[in-house]
Amino acid sequence: MPILVTGACGFIGAWTVRRLLELGERVVLTDVSGDLSRLRYVVDGADRLPFVRGDIVDEGFIENIVRNYGVDAIIHLAAFQIPQCRADPVRGALVNVIGTLRVFEAAKKNRDIVRRVVYASSAAVFGPPELYGEGPVPVNAPLKPTTHYGAYKVCNELTANAYWHESGIPSVGLRPQVVYGYGRDVGVTSDASRAIKAAIARRPYRIRFGGLIDMQYVEDVAHLFAISAIKDFDGARVYNVRGDVISVAELVKIIEEATGVSGLITFEDKPLPIPAYLDDSETEKDLGPLKKTPAREGVAKTAEFFLGLLRRGELDLSDLT
Ligand SMILES: NC(=O)c1ccc[n+]([C@@H]2O[C@H](COP(=O)([O-])OP(=O)(O)OC[C@H]3O[C@@H](n4cnc5c(N)ncnc54)[C@H](O)[C@@H]3O)[C@@H](O)[C@H]2O)c1
Repeated sequence: MPILVTGACGFIGAWTVRRLLELGERVVLTDVSGDLSRLRYVVDGADRLPFVRGDIVDEGFIENIVRNYGVDAIIHLAAFQIPQCRADPVRGALVNVIGTLRVFEAAKKNRDIVRRVVYASSAAVFGPPELYGEGPVPVNAPLKPTTHYGAYKVCNELTANAYWHESGIPSVGLRPQVVYGYGRDVGVTSDASRAIKAAIARRPYRIRFGGLIDMQYVEDVAHLFAISAIKDFDGARVYNVRGDVISVAELVKIIEEATGVSGLITFEDKPLPIPAYLDDSETEKDLGPLKKTPAREGVAKTAEFFLGLLRRGELDLSDLT
């Protein structure tokens, strides 16, 4: 029975589909977008995979896919990012909150076949770093988001908890921070990936934040989503995600070393309003062993990917303007 991936045309979606296939799973994909370009670059034979296009907010849409394909588990990645939620909080809530409810309702109505739901939460459920003091932020630290996006993610974690207690639907919510790699071009923290692309294209680029960030290479995060859907746990579990914490100044140096450019990539000295150091000991215990690609290695892999596209004349630079 296949695993359903929502938001499959997106960045983490495409890499998660690839990881699921590597692990021998069958998949069915859905997205409101019909742009399969990320999937085609990341997944061999992407055009042959079952794909159902539609809006997750529409009543019955996910339910029908679950029933028609006999879905075993759902990995829910479809969402608006921080800027989209800020620009239109009501539509943001429809996609991020109601969309998540649609996923859980589909699981509930097909409890006989759906084993579990895995969904993307975010480190944005936490408030500004100064609220948490020194040391890694534990998974059960108080949630005090300052963005609509973060508030919707908190709501989704509570929704998942309610579906476990009221309907017995097991779930895993994962909280990434700055995921990077080929295909990341939506949201503020996509600047880390765009800066690598800009360096490859020999274009100037200004990263809109500074301070410490947790660089999480997309293949590591995709593995976490895949394994969370394959393993069997009870409860409504939520896990912090941790990669390689570095400063943006260090990131710029790493990009320069990987691409041979100098002085083109700059950054604003304004930290992100979310903590960089998250405690992922529970994640390691339940979902490990985890791979945490060092930023130097992940940036080099990403630069190589972009360089391949540049050499073939296929590097899309439209997100750099
Ligand atoms: N990328 C990161 O660094 C990061 C960090 C923390 C959390 N997350 C979360 O991970 C998930 C995936 O992020 P991503 O970086 O792949 O984002 P993305 O923007 O690349 O992909 C999201 C996908 O959702 C689809 N979508 C949007 N609205 C939809 C709707 N109404 N119906 C169906 N599909 C819809 C989009 O078409 C897109 O393909 C999101 O929930 C995001 O909030 C991402």
